Amino acid sequence: MQSLSDKRILLGITGGIAAYKSAELTRRLRDHGAEVRVVMTPAATEFIAPLTLQALSGNPVHTDLLDHEAEAAMGHIELARWADAVVVAPATANFIARLSNGLADDLLSTLCLATAAPLLIAPAMNRQMWQNPATQENIARLQARGVTLLGPASGAQACGEMGPGRLLEPEELAQAIISAGRTNQLAGVSVLVSAGPTREFIDPVRYLSNRSSGRMGYAVARAAEEAGAAVTLVSGPVSLAAPARVKVVEVVSAGQMHDEVLAAAPATDIFVSSAAVADYRTGNAAGQKMKKKDADLLLRLEKTPDILAEVAALDRPPFTVGFAAETENLHDNAKKKLKSKNLDMIAANRVGNGLGFDREENALEVFWTGGSESLATAPKEKLARQLVEIIIARYREKSLEQQHRTRVKDVQD
Ligand code: C5P
Repeated sequence: MQSLSDKRILLGITGGIAAYKSAELTRRLRDHGAEVRVVMTPAATEFIAPLTLQALSGNPVHTDLLDHEAEAAMGHIELARWADAVVVAPATANFIARLSNGLADDLLSTLCLATAAPLLIAPAMNRQMWQNPATQENIARLQARGVTLLGPASGAQACGEMGPGRLLEPEELAQAIISAGRTNQLAGVSVLVSAGPTREFIDPVRYLSNRSSGRMGYAVARAAEEAGAAVTLVSGPVSLAAPARVKVVEVVSAGQMHDEVLAAAPATDIFVSSAAVADYRTGNAAGQKMKKKDADLLLRLEKTPDILAEVAALDRPPFTVGFAAETENLHDNAKKKLKSKNLDMIAANRVGNGLGFDREENALEVFWTGGSESLATAPKEKLARQLVEIIIARYREKSLEQQHRTRVKDVQD
């Protein structure tokens, strides 16, 4: 799975010779899974053709605040809202000065003011301009406001000089953008995620399973890893690439998933059970391929262990999050499950009629005791990041409550 899957990056290009590298950066960002929209200052269009960026980004390029056609397609405020991150590469000394003074005299500077998304700038200029106290003061002001600085690198410059002020190389920029998206909100926290379907064999070649793609669980594992957690993913058979820096334990059946999850659970702080575990299995699969018979075939099935309920019933259970796929009475059924399985949180989604399983997009209703939140239809990667944000907030709250209770008990003892 790619590191920038479904991240929406607004790439601002300003007028410097390094603008040619923005073409390659656009490609790299898309290779890493991002959706890219490009905004160019008028000066940037003197260095590189907007058509090049349009072809590489797959989207029309925006250059003018007063362009009626572009505004009608996606207005500047809409663009500012659309972005998950705004990256200005290259950022000239002039643009940095305008930004630090809060000017909004062209489309890109206006967007930078109008967005709530994180802003990242990659300076590129002659070393004297970079080292000039005016530029350094502007940079310091921007950093104090939370703007992330990418580079600059040091080395040979287009003007023939040597020194700091070179734009980072496209892949270095892409990696820096990926790293900037990481947080340490879950540093020191271990997260266990189950994902995918299970297969319950009837004989050596036939099995019962379901349509789960595993995408939601893989996205949750990745979002937790991006938040700094140590993540283990117990996965049924899926055709997804392992997320980077996540320990993946592959299983096939519900029984195997049960054993792996319960072995890992005692050392886990947060368990997210997104697997579509088969509810029934054949007690003993036939050793040989079953022969076709004339009459109907009756399969006797036994219940599989409820992994989630078992984890939640441990003496010291992790913060436990379940999923509920419902075709009807979503709210009531999800809340019932939250109680009956003794969960900390449940994420419910509507399935059937083209919703839910093996789809790119989903919507979730998240419930916990005393609260709920609706997550609107979005790609599963985005939903997973939002879900992990909610989990972090609730997990912290529960940890604080537990600490408080321990303190009260200590005082009473
Ligand atoms: O009860 P129901 O199957 O609808 O609950 C769904 C939740 O329970 C999911 O989080 C799923 O991962 C988990 N589950 C489980 N073991 C089972 C069946 C479901 O952990 N045998």
